[in-house]
Amino acid sequence: MKTLSISAAIAAVALSVLNVVNADLSKIVRVNPATQHFIDAQGRSRFFHGTNMVKKSFPWHMDVNNFVPSWSVVDRDIELMKSLNINIVRLGVHWAGVEPVRGQYNQTYLDVTQGIIKKFQDNGIYTLVDQHQDVWAAQLCGHGAPLWFVKSDWVTPGHRMPYPQKAPFAVDANGVPSDADCNSIDWSVSYLDYAVGNAFGRLYNNYDNLGDAWVAYWKVVATNYNALPGVMGYDLMNEPWVGDHMADPTLLTPGVADSRNLEPLWNKGNNAIRQ
Ligand SMILES: *[C@@H]1O[C@H](CO)[C@@H](O)[C@H](O)[C@H]1NC(C)=O
Repeated sequence: MKTLSISAAIAAVALSVLNVVNADLSKIVRVNPATQHFIDAQGRSRFFHGTNMVKKSFPWHMDVNNFVPSWSVVDRDIELMKSLNINIVRLGVHWAGVEPVRGQYNQTYLDVTQGIIKKFQDNGIYTLVDQHQDVWAAQLCGHGAPLWFVKSDWVTPGHRMPYPQKAPFAVDANGVPSDADCNSIDWSVSYLDYAVGNAFGRLYNNYDNLGDAWVAYWKVVATNYNALPGVMGYDLMNEPWVGDHMADPTLLTPGVADSRNLEPLWNKGNNAIRQ
C-alpha cells in the first residue's frame, strides 16, 4: 500500500512537472549560423516536426469553434497533432485578414489568431507566423495581400491577368476575375504574367507607400504577438516573387532580385518586428 501511494505521489509530481513544461515553452532566442540550429532560452538546440496551417480565403484563419477535418483548430485537432508528435505550426496570419481596409487593422482577427497561438503554446506547440501569399492578390488570381493593394489601372486593359499566358479575363467591380477563369490557368506559371510582376514591382519600389504598408502590417502583428513564448519566428513572406520582371528581365537571373528587391524590404520588416 505504502509503495503504491509513493508511486502515485511520484506520478502526480511527474505530471505537474510535465504540465509546467507545456505551460511554459522555452522561447526560441536565436539561430546558430554555424549549425543552423534554433536555440532556446536554455541554450538547447531545438528540433521541429510540424505542419502548415493556412486558410487561403476569408476569414483567413481556421475554424476555432467546430471540428472540420483539415480546416479547424479545436481541442480534437490539438489531440490529433499531439498524436503525430507535431511541435510546430507554420500559421498563416494573412495581410488581407490583418488590414482589410487600408490603415484599419482588424483587432478581432489579431485576437482570434493570438488565441490559436496560445492554444498551441499551452499544448507544447510552437508557431512560426507566416505572411502567406500565392500570386499576391485576388485581382491576380492569387491571395494574401488585401483587396485594396492592386489597382486595376496599373496596367493597360490588354496587359491584365493573365496576359501573356492567355487573353485578359473579364473582371468584377473590384477588378477580380472569376474563380472559373482563374482555375483555367496554371497558378505557378502565372507568376510570369505581366500584372503580377507589375504589382510586386510596386511593393518593392514602395509605390504609394505600399512597401511601408507591408512593414507596418508586420509591426502590428509582432506588437500583438511578441510577448508569446510560443512564437518561434516570423516568416516575412511565403514564396516572394522577384518584382517587375517585364520592366527588368535581369531580375530573373538568380541572386539579382534577392539583393536588389528582397533584401531592402526584408531589412525594413526585420527592423519593424524587433522594435
Ligand atoms: C475581422 O475579423 C473577424 C474574425 O475573423 C471577422 O469575423 C470580421 O469579418 C473581420 N472584419 C473585417 C472588416 O474583415
